[in-house]
Amino acid sequence: MKVIVEKNYEELSKTAANIIKDEIAKKPNLVLGLATGSTPEGTYRELIRLHKEEGLDFSQVTTFNLDEYVGIDKDHPNSYHYYMKTTLFDHINIDPNNTFIPDGKVENPEKYCKEYDRLIEEKGGIDLQVLGIGENGHIAFNEPDEALNVGTSVVNLTESTIQANSRFFDSIDQVPKTAITMGIGSIMKAKKIILLANGKKKANVIKELLKQDKITTKLPASILLLHPDVTVIVDEEAYNG
Ligand code: PGA
Repeated sequence: MKVIVEKNYEELSKTAANIIKDEIAKKPNLVLGLATGSTPEGTYRELIRLHKEEGLDFSQVTTFNLDEYVGIDKDHPNSYHYYMKTTLFDHINIDPNNTFIPDGKVENPEKYCKEYDRLIEEKGGIDLQVLGIGENGHIAFNEPDEALNVGTSVVNLTESTIQANSRFFDSIDQVPKTAITMGIGSIMKAKKIILLANGKKKANVIKELLKQDKITTKLPASILLLHPDVTVIVDEEAYNG
């Protein structure tokens, strides 16, 4: 696992965006795995700037998002569909038909999850996956547990995740309790992974992750130690606390 420590959030975001830019330069029809949450917002802002000012071209890029809340409409302001549209997709030249986000309102989620993994395979697999990390060590919504799902699945969110995500909702009662998430196996199949973390709130989990020499389902991000091409990009606050 390679580690890059940047001075601050802005530098971290630029570094992440530049890695994405370089991968698109190498492969214009890149299959890009995307995350939501506060962490990648700066990266997406920088990608928008690279598109508008330097002509970064997303016309052939395909994206797959990691997760979505169950039971939430696509146009709900707290849905990850809405987040992706307003934070990135509306501001770049990506074809909406090439953007995939789990649908939290499907009638048969189990069948749908299998189809989501199949669709990723059909598009050639994820070339570059962007990840955040939860304060509890989750990646996507793969929460610490006795066992972790391999494929895309419906999962229960832990109290700590519900608490952390309540900052985006009017009240904690409104935070959905379940989500569809790409599984650990779906993530591990990505050819290249960048994991981003910023701020003091992530210092404990980053310290835990970087000192690991074992994998444990209690720290889902530790599974990334088995991946051959992971770069962890952190700012000084997340690195030093
Ligand atoms: P955050 O979420 O970027 O909003 O901190 C990260 C995560 O929970 O994976």
